[in-house]
Formats: sequence, C-alpha cells, structure tokens
Amino acid sequence: VDDHGVGLAPRLEGLLACPRCHGPLARTADMFRCRHAPCGFQASLVDGIVNVAGAGVSSFFDSKVPVMLHGADDPGSHAVFYAEQARAVEEALPEAGVIVDVGCGPRLMYTPPPTATVIGVDLSYESLRYNKDVHLRIFGTATALPLLRASVDTVVCFYLLHHLVARSRAETSGVLVGALREFGRVLRPGGRLLVFEVSPWAPVWALQRVGWDTAKRLLGPKLDMFFWARSHLLRIAGEALAGAEVTHHTFRAARWTMFPPVFALPRLRIPRALYPFDICMYCWRIPREGVVT
Ligand SMILES: C[S@@+](CC[C@H](N)C(=O)[O-])C[C@H]1O[C@@H](n2cnc3c(N)ncnc32)[C@H](O)[C@@H]1O
Ligand SMILES: [Zn+2]
Repeated sequence: VDDHGVGLAPRLEGLLACPRCHGPLARTADMFRCRHAPCGFQASLVDGIVNVAGAGVSSFFDSKVPVMLHGADDPGSHAVFYAEQARAVEEALPEAGVIVDVGCGPRLMYTPPPTATVIGVDLSYESLRYNKDVHLRIFGTATALPLLRASVDTVVCFYLLHHLVARSRAETSGVLVGALREFGRVLRPGGRLLVFEVSPWAPVWALQRVGWDTAKRLLGPKLDMFFWARSHLLRIAGEALAGAEVTHHTFRAARWTMFPPVFALPRLRIPRALYPFDICMYCWRIPREGVVT
C-alpha cells in the first residue's frame, strides 16, 4: 500500500464528514458512506488517500508534478515565492491543533509544528501520492471539504486561490466565494485562514478583467488561472467570512532576484522588479461567535 506508512488514525477519521450534507460518515475497510441515508454520498480509501472527488477526475496538475517540484526548487523562485513566506506561515501556525493545507501539492514548502496534525487536500491525485509531508491526504476540492464544522484550527492556501476558476469571471468569483465559505465552515471560532497569493498590478488587473472571458472561451481548460487584485480579494472575503478580522502583508524579495515567472518555462527568467504582481499573505481570523451568515 502506497500510504507512506501513515494509515488513517482514529483521531483523523473523527474529523471527517460528508462533503455534501456534512453528516457523519460510516467507515468500512476501504469505503466511507454518509450515514444520512437519503444523501447517498460515498468515498473510497485507496493508497491511504481519502477520495471524495470521485472516479474519473483527472487534474490538469497531475502532469505538472515534476514541473512544480522543479519550479519550486529553482533558487530564484524559492527566494521570491517561498523563503520568507515559509517563515511567515511557520510563525503563524499554532503549536498543536489541526491544520488543513488546501492545494497542498506534492510537498509542503514549510515545516509545520511537530505536534500539529496536518491534512492535505488537493485535486491532483498524483500530487497527493507524492506528498509525504501530511498526516492525511484528501483527494477533493476546496469548495466541498469532507470535514466537520468548526473542526479545524488553521486553513492554509499556498498559491491555490488563483486556480479556482470557472467558465466566466462572474462564475469564477462564485467559486472563490464557495471556497471561502467552506473554509469559514470548517474553521473553529478564533481559527485562522492563511492565504498566500500573487496580486496583479493595476495594468495587468485591468487587462485581465477586460480579456479573461474571451480568453477562457478560446483556451478552455488551458486557462486555469485568474489573479485577484488585493482590494477585490479583501472585499469578497470580507463578505464570505463576515465578521472575520483581516491582516495582510506584502513580501519584498530583492528586486534583482532572477527567477522563472512561469514554472513551465524554466528558461524564461526575469528580475523580480519586472514581475507585475505583488506577493501577499492574508490572514483572516474567524470571530468567537463564528462566521456571521
Ligand atoms: C500552484 S499549485 C501550489 C502547490 C503548493 N501549495 C505550493 O505552494 O507549492 C496549486 C495547487 O492547487 C491544486 N488545486 C487546483 N484546484 C484545486 C481545487 N479546486 N481544490 C483543491 N486543490 C486544487 C492543484 O492541484 C495544485 O496542487
Ligand atoms: Zn451526506
């Protein structure tokens, strides 16, 4: 069994819930069934990975595992996207507790506290198969987490949100709201959502707003990114996580750091100063009374 020897500890199993109706799940050897009979939801457990995405889902990222690993190993990319960010997330994470890394990819780029329980969620099965850094791997989507309400201390998203896209800009905004509400549901009062994202400078944002719907019609699944300007992400999250307190921070990597802005094109290298995006960290703290709905 390719489960990296992790198995599925009872304390982890106790956090799981039906991603559809949020009811409890019953477990057999390699299946989960929603106990709420009319719901009918089922998930399988293969290679130590809880599969709530269903059969036949293949992710664009499945073929990208080597690209992602290589891209993140590039010293320039590491300096721009991960080095300071890893320190920031490591400082922000609680000593113990449950961390859910959504869009965890093939490995974590930071070191969680040794006493924490880490759940990795990704829509790329291949990335999860590779990932040895989490205690539980869930093959599923950010908008329907198989986790109990108020069961999580911290949700971490490293460069995930710009991949939550749909057929149009309007629908894409709906998917973002869906994911943020889902994070608000699983986070406990006082829990935190830590997001790392790139935020386009004004001209790139303006161009993207004008051209994205047409580009999406032409490119289809090849266009799998939409970058949120900071002010828009803050406004949308402010509504989806009503009552949450937010702080944000922009990372300042050295302006002359040379790095490949597109991981898939490692030979195309530009200095940080010409990369028209800010790299930001956002932290939303869920109020004591939970998210206002
Ligand atoms: C740019 S990669 C970042 C990977 C990793 N967090 C890192 O920083 O190196 C985005 C990840 O999000 C995953 N992803 C894309 N859409 C997703 C969704 N709807 N739900 C969960 N994960 C998703 C991809 O499979 C991919 O692993
Ligand atoms: Zn159910």
